[in-house]
Formats: sequence, structure tokens, C-alpha cells
Amino acid sequence: MNATTGAARPRVFSGVQPTSVLHLGNYVGALQQWVKQQHERDSVFCVVDLHALTVPEAVDPARLREQTRSVAALYLAVGIEPERNVIFVQSAVREHTELTWLLNCVTPLGWLYRMTQFKSKSEGRESVGAGLLDYPVLMASDILLYDTELVPVGDDQVQHIELTRDIALRFNVLFGDVFKLPKAQVPTLGARVMGMDDPTVKMSKSIAAHRPGHAINLLDDAKTVKKTVMAAVTDSGRELRFEHASPGVRNLLAVYQVLTEKGMQEVEAEFEGAGYGHLKKALVEAVMATLEPIQARYREYMDDRAGLDALLASGADRAREVAAGTMRRVRAAMGVG
Ligand code: TYM
Repeated sequence: MNATTGAARPRVFSGVQPTSVLHLGNYVGALQQWVKQQHERDSVFCVVDLHALTVPEAVDPARLREQTRSVAALYLAVGIEPERNVIFVQSAVREHTELTWLLNCVTPLGWLYRMTQFKSKSEGRESVGAGLLDYPVLMASDILLYDTELVPVGDDQVQHIELTRDIALRFNVLFGDVFKLPKAQVPTLGARVMGMDDPTVKMSKSIAAHRPGHAINLLDDAKTVKKTVMAAVTDSGRELRFEHASPGVRNLLAVYQVLTEKGMQEVEAEFEGAGYGHLKKALVEAVMATLEPIQARYREYMDDRAGLDALLASGADRAREVAAGTMRRVRAAMGVG
């Protein structure tokens, strides 16, 4: 990242919460896009550990620290090059929390109550922390600190990025032109991978934590992947066509297509006259061909803890340099600091 001259390549920012092991939805919705574009972009990738605190009763401090490292190791293992991109942990750069406070002061509460993720995550809970409501403002801070232009995410995050634009715009109107307005970048295929056990809901880390068979996790072994895929919900039909497929079959076809990088017609031709069992077997192979090299590299990064920590510390130094520059502009604009 070039902190001083600004980037000729568009600046990208994205992140993942270290709440538990990442799943295939996280991979095809987000990480795979990051890797593919890393040579044409000036990218900053963050492990957003502060976001993981928004459901504090679910937090085990030792586990959170370990999980944070594990997500960083996965970033590297999927192929993000640390020389080309900045990789760091959110809590190591204090500017994220400082900017959150300042943006809180320009964000109407009504905007936050409207967020669908807040509604679903707070539903049925007796008590909801302020952090859960404020979650998207911390996310806006992540993005705006780095003059981000593009935010590659799955489609469940689009509303948060639109909110980020609204907050930035409101700030710029009130205090002068400080922030760039970012845009979400959602993949055409794989933006919403559905649950293997229930294709009417998005594959999610929180469901996967208590329902085996819901997600394919990036660290699953071949036996587990096979069990999950073979038990995946389909329907009583046979025809393997995207157009007529039920949600479960469409989900399997889409994941297969993304992982193998084959076109729709090619996939349909491959399975013409074959049953769902064929598709499932082929999908297990495609998943393992993707996961095995990732898992091997993951183990190497996790075995060299000192190396991983040093890499994250240097990433945080590079991130802080840019974030500190943005904060100088923000403080000057608001008359504080
Ligand atoms: P998180 O940790 O829930 O998910 C990480 C990324 O994975 C995508 N994703 C999916 N994509 C396709 N199908 C699915 N089933 C699926 N489930 C998750 C998400 O869209 C996301 O891209 N709020 C964010 C983290 C965050 C962030 C940011 C992202 C914090 N600050 C700034 C971008 C920029 C989140 O909870 O993602």
C-alpha cells in the first residue's frame, strides 16, 4: 500500500469476523475474489476482531485470540500475498475505534435500527448490547479510514456498505469533503451460498456452530465434506438444469460452477442424464481439490506463530500509517484533537 502518493490501482478493503472457522460461503463470496484481484488492486485485508465482540456472551478471550490468528493464516493460505497487500488485525490499529466514536455522532439511530442484520441478530434476545447496533458504524470506520473505493463482499454485506456511503456523505456535507464514497463489489456467482442442510437460509458461521451438516468449513477433512455434501438437501426430481433446479440443487450447481470455474452450459452438459449422486460426488472432489492445498499452507502458517505475528505486526504498521493520515483530516474537519 502506498501511503503517501495515493494509489493508481483502486483501493480495496475487506474483512472477516473471527467468530469461528470460515466456511465455503466466506471463501467464494469474499476471499476468492480478493485473491483473484490482488494484482490489479491496492488491497487492505483485516481480521475484524472488534466486530466479534458484539455478542459478548459468545466470546471466550483465549479462543478469540486464537481464532483471530487462524483467520489471518487462512487469508495467507488462500493465496493473499502479504508483500502485495496489507493484512492486519483491526484491534491493533486504534484509529478504527476513534473514528467509530466520531461517526457515531453523525449517524442517525434510525439508520442503524433499519439494518436487517441488526434485526435478525437481535431478534428474540432479552438484552442487546449497544455494540450490536453500532456494528455497521465500526464497519464504516474500517472502510473509510483507508480511502476505500471497492469493498468485495458477499451480498449480505451490501446494506452495510450502502450505509457506509450514507454516513460518509452526511459527514462530507456537515464537515467538508473528507471521505471517498466506497462501493460494494459482489461476485456474479457465489454471492450467497446457502446452507447444505437447508437451502432456504444463507450458509452462516453462527448456524454452523451448532448444526453439523449446515456448512462446509475450510478446515474440514475429506470425510466430513463427503458426509455434508452427500446429505445436502436436494429434491425428488432428477434433472440437473440451472433453470428448473430447486434451491438445494441450484446451490450445489452454483458452488460446483464457482469452484471449477466452468460455464453454466458446460456444467449442464457434464451432468446430462446423470442423477444428483453424480453431482454430489463431483462436488466433493471439487471442494477437496480447493481445500487440500489451502489446508496444507494453513498448517504451515499456524506452525510458525512468530512469523505470523510478525507479519501481522508489520501489516498493522502499514495500515496505521494510512489510518493516522485520515484521522488527522477528520479531526481537523471536526475541530477536535
Ligand atoms: P462475515 O465475517 O460475516 O463474512 C465474511 C465475508 O463472507 C461473506 N459471506 C458469504 N458470501 C457468500 N455466501 C455466504 N453464505 C456468506 N456468508 C458470509 C460476507 O458477505 C463477507 O464478505 N461485517 C462483515 C465483516 C466486516 C467487513 C468490514 C467487511 C467488518 N468490517 C469492512 C468488509 C469491509 C462480516 O460480518 O462478515
